[in-house]
Amino acid sequence: MKMRQVYLDNNATTPVDPRVFEAMRPYYVEDFGNAASIHTYGQKAHCAVEDARGQVADLIRARPNEILFTSGGTESDNTALRGVAARHQSRGNHIITTSIEHSAILRTCEQLEKEGFCITYIPVDRKGMVRLDKLKEAIDDQTILISVMHGNNEIGAIQSIEHIAAMARERKILFHTDAVQTVGKIGVNVEELSVDLLSLSAHKMHGPKGVGALYIRRGVSMNPLLFGGSHERSRRAGTLDVPGIVGLGKACELSNEALEAFNTRVRALRDKLEKGILEQIPDTVVNGSRTERLPHLTNISFRSVEGEALLISLDFQGVAVSTGSACSSGTVEPSHVLTALGGNQKLRDSAIRFSLSRMNTKNDVDYVLQILPGIVERMREVSPLYRAG
Ligand SMILES: Cc1ncc(COP(=O)(O)O)c(C=O)c1O
Repeated sequence: MKMRQVYLDNNATTPVDPRVFEAMRPYYVEDFGNAASIHTYGQKAHCAVEDARGQVADLIRARPNEILFTSGGTESDNTALRGVAARHQSRGNHIITTSIEHSAILRTCEQLEKEGFCITYIPVDRKGMVRLDKLKEAIDDQTILISVMHGNNEIGAIQSIEHIAAMARERKILFHTDAVQTVGKIGVNVEELSVDLLSLSAHKMHGPKGVGALYIRRGVSMNPLLFGGSHERSRRAGTLDVPGIVGLGKACELSNEALEAFNTRVRALRDKLEKGILEQIPDTVVNGSRTERLPHLTNISFRSVEGEALLISLDFQGVAVSTGSACSSGTVEPSHVLTALGGNQKLRDSAIRFSLSRMNTKNDVDYVLQILPGIVERMREVSPLYRAG
């Protein structure tokens, strides 16, 4: 009999929705034109790109000409930070971000530090919420950019972006948010959030990998990251990935339609999973805020169980989960996000992230609740640490 497969690592990536795949297919095979060409092939591709721009803009309540297509969240983050830094360095060299950002932000900041910029990393509290008092204190006359993520990829903490953006606006500082984990999962409205720049990525919402977008509020000036042709109104050189962009557009349209269901059905599945684990397995604790967080994920520590070992045991039984963030796994470094929350280091190393999508079912959750207690119990039976209490 075939083993049941349950995919609960949707913050790492999501399966492509078959409707997205169908929308992309013609742009590989029949309508393969270069969107910059003048002939009919080119015009068809161009129209498809502009339709997709409208779909992306609709989802985040932006205008189509405020959407720049990129190769994904990493490039959007790099473009935002490096583009603003390069353009505004004559005004100042200070950038503020947080200690729980994705590596696409943190590594870019490290590089900017090497190039002479000064970066302040704002700490978070035990629940993963950015310390607004510290952020306010950090702002000075040299500050040109503040970048704070919307939803955290590991613990799901949702920051109060509108408050932070208002602080930045008051001081005439540009504000960027990495919304790669929130767009398509909760309502994101760039006007209400009052952000200048926002990153998103297709593969976190049932779209293809390697394509994303950066929202750039009208009037915001910044330098390009890539130079070459005059694509994307000279804001990013390079032949457009038409099928990928069509896929991103379709993924945005479908996510827009499914937002309500995501918030109710997926949230209910997550709650059932979390409640089941906490009730059936002793010595378990949820990491981060249980209120200000994304509806589809829970990050749980299992005392005296090594996270990586639990991940592998679950994988043997067909269940895919994650420890720390997907992009840093494989290197078994402690999670910088759980480290930033403070607290017990052993609990940090026993954390597992379960992240669901609209494609998960009640049977998936039931299966995990059926096998997980036994796996944890067997691991603890052979753990001298657990027996020692
Ligand atoms: C919060 C966040 N930002 C940025 C990225 C990078 O996005 P991409 O994989 O599209 O480059 C990720 C991916 O995990 C993420 O979770």
